[in-house]
Amino acid sequence: MLSRQVAAKLGTYETPFYLYDMELLRRTLENVTSVASNYGYRIHYAIKANFDARLLEIIREYGLGIDCASGNEIRCAIEAGFDPKSIVYAGVGKRDKELRYAIEQGIMAINCESTEELHVVDALAREAGKVVDVALRINPDIDPKTNHCIDTGQADSKFGISYEEILAGVEDIRSLRNLNVVGMHLHIGSQIRELHVFENMCNKVNAIVDNLTSLGFDLRFVDVGGGLGINYDLPENEPIPNFASLFAIVNSHLNVGSREVHFEFGRSIVGECGELITRVLFNKTTATGRKLVIVDASMTELIRPALYGSYHNIENITSASDQREKYTIVGTACESTDVFDENVSLPLTRRGDLLTIKSAGAYGMSMASRYNLHDLPGAVYSDRL
Ligand SMILES: Cc1ncc(COP(=O)(O)O)c(C=O)c1O
Repeated sequence: MLSRQVAAKLGTYETPFYLYDMELLRRTLENVTSVASNYGYRIHYAIKANFDARLLEIIREYGLGIDCASGNEIRCAIEAGFDPKSIVYAGVGKRDKELRYAIEQGIMAINCESTEELHVVDALAREAGKVVDVALRINPDIDPKTNHCIDTGQADSKFGISYEEILAGVEDIRSLRNLNVVGMHLHIGSQIRELHVFENMCNKVNAIVDNLTSLGFDLRFVDVGGGLGINYDLPENEPIPNFASLFAIVNSHLNVGSREVHFEFGRSIVGECGELITRVLFNKTTATGRKLVIVDASMTELIRPALYGSYHNIENITSASDQREKYTIVGTACESTDVFDENVSLPLTRRGDLLTIKSAGAYGMSMASRYNLHDLPGAVYSDRL
């Protein structure tokens, strides 16, 4: 981990802050783009994972497109220099002003998630005097074997159009004159570590594409979403996620002819290159004997543990002690769920020590809030240390 190597340089920065390993980001991008090019796959970066301007600058250098979930994300991507024609826009609830902006910018496709949305996009496109490219985001009903808070493709989920709804509305959808249905989209969930799940996904996609084609839809592309998981337990063992295995699985199971195949990766691109660096404020022991380490970060800088019960590996990067203790690491926010982890084995930890909360590059800063009127955390980049 970068923070351990550069710990001596970190003491002067105001904590908490995100530390980004730019070299690891580049190696990750080099890996994903070179393996994807073996199969002709096109990669979008899910900007919701982290919209930091310097990260986006590097991601753009490697030729990725962008996957957005809001009008402001589209604006951010365009301002960062991404070609609107490389931008896809999904989301179960798109506001009219966001759709108008997407239409105006002529993005690659609006991934529609209900028949009502298709009607609204059609009407807004007519109003703008345009015919707009859309993809149907289908709910494939797949169990992605991940934390239930971040699965998105099961039958009862709010995401995507059910296949039954498409069947019932085929004629209606095809009658929408200001839409071109050019793609099919799905995203089954996030932090997927059991790669065989992607085999099921491919089998579903094959069937859906066949059916949509027989219903008269002429699909140019298939967008299979993101979801590849990272190693939160032991990030040092796997700093770059296994894109090669995922692509090999997709290559041998996906059967969509000459259609373009797109992916939208968030966590697997930026997750491992970010750490949240925080300083120990206080130690105390509860009446029940639990040793608490109170750090100056909280759920306002990294909400994943409080929101989903997510695990992040934590290390003390400045203590030189040989003695180890088990600690509960808690944040400053006025919420009982503001706990980063329990039973963490650390060297003797004292006020002023720096801790790293690892694998925090994705869904960390982008979910930060100003609860308790905390300042938003800063960013420190390895190439500017
Ligand atoms: C539609 C869509 N695509 C892509 C992603 C990125 O997923 P991940 O970060 O797991 O790669 C998400 C995440 O929520 C999503 O909702």
